[in-house]
Amino acid sequence: MHVLILGSAAGGGLPQWNCRCPICALAREDETRVRPRTQSSIAVSPDGERWLLVNASPDIRQQLFDNPAMHPRTGLRHSPIHAVLLTNGDVDHVAGLLTLREGQPFTLYGTAGILDSVNANRVFDVMAAGVVAREPIALDRRFEPVPGLHVTLFAVPGKVPLWLEDETLEIGAETETTVGAMIEAGGRRLAYIPGCARVTADLKARIAGVDALLFDGTVLLDDDMIRAGVGTKTGWRMGHVPMTGAGGSIAALSDVAIGHRVFVHINNTNPVLVEASDARREVEAAGWTVAHDGLTLTLS
Ligand code: MLT
Ligand code: MN
Ligand code: ZN
Repeated sequence: MHVLILGSAAGGGLPQWNCRCPICALAREDETRVRPRTQSSIAVSPDGERWLLVNASPDIRQQLFDNPAMHPRTGLRHSPIHAVLLTNGDVDHVAGLLTLREGQPFTLYGTAGILDSVNANRVFDVMAAGVVAREPIALDRRFEPVPGLHVTLFAVPGKVPLWLEDETLEIGAETETTVGAMIEAGGRRLAYIPGCARVTADLKARIAGVDALLFDGTVLLDDDMIRAGVGTKTGWRMGHVPMTGAGGSIAALSDVAIGHRVFVHINNTNPVLVEASDARREVEAAGWTVAHDGLTLTLS
């Protein structure tokens, strides 16, 4: 199985257009200290030819340009992307669908809950009916979006997208609105969970024994955004479990057998983004990789 991390940052990317926090500032000044990163998306393939795009970020045009595996290969119009899967309806995961127009056929997969929020926005009709099929997938049902690549979606603790929040907001609910994807090919398994509010016993059991885990690395500590002075929201309020601390993902997953542990969906306020920082060293010493754009994993 070929795994290509197209974008490793959370919503906003790095640097974020309007942000002068120390990490965004460094990303503009010195790429050896902080590598710029685009927004959250990966591509997975069983053969290196036919790819499943998981999440379509607002940076998709740049991501497809930067990665030759994503370029058209034959004829006048072509794409190696056979299917697109959404793990939630957040802007950083769906806005790139608007770029995938121009009459290119593919199938769009997601839970009914996630696809409903796309279908409710008529601007997404640029993916014309009859060209782009939209296929709702039930939780815990194994399907094959690309020949030789099987996927099972499962609920993880989360919340509705920020743009759908209202007074009924519930954080940590395990519903169709935030899912993880278990992706299998050639006898190897990848768990992709870019958004997760809490590590539960169910989740640990689900991912035990995977060859690789790509996991929510939005915040280092629950109060990253507050410490950085750029907001009042905690990781929990945003639906993201922190990396470190007592309930953090590093501690919670330390007793689970996992081949490669990789943080993705990293917010621009997260200190692990600074090369050689104490935070980066701490996370790496715990056996985790901090993803950057273009990082590849080959599971065989
Ligand atoms: C998130 O992951 O929390 C969302 O992408 C936030 C947002 O939509 O800006
Ligand atoms: Mn996000
Ligand atoms: Zn910033």
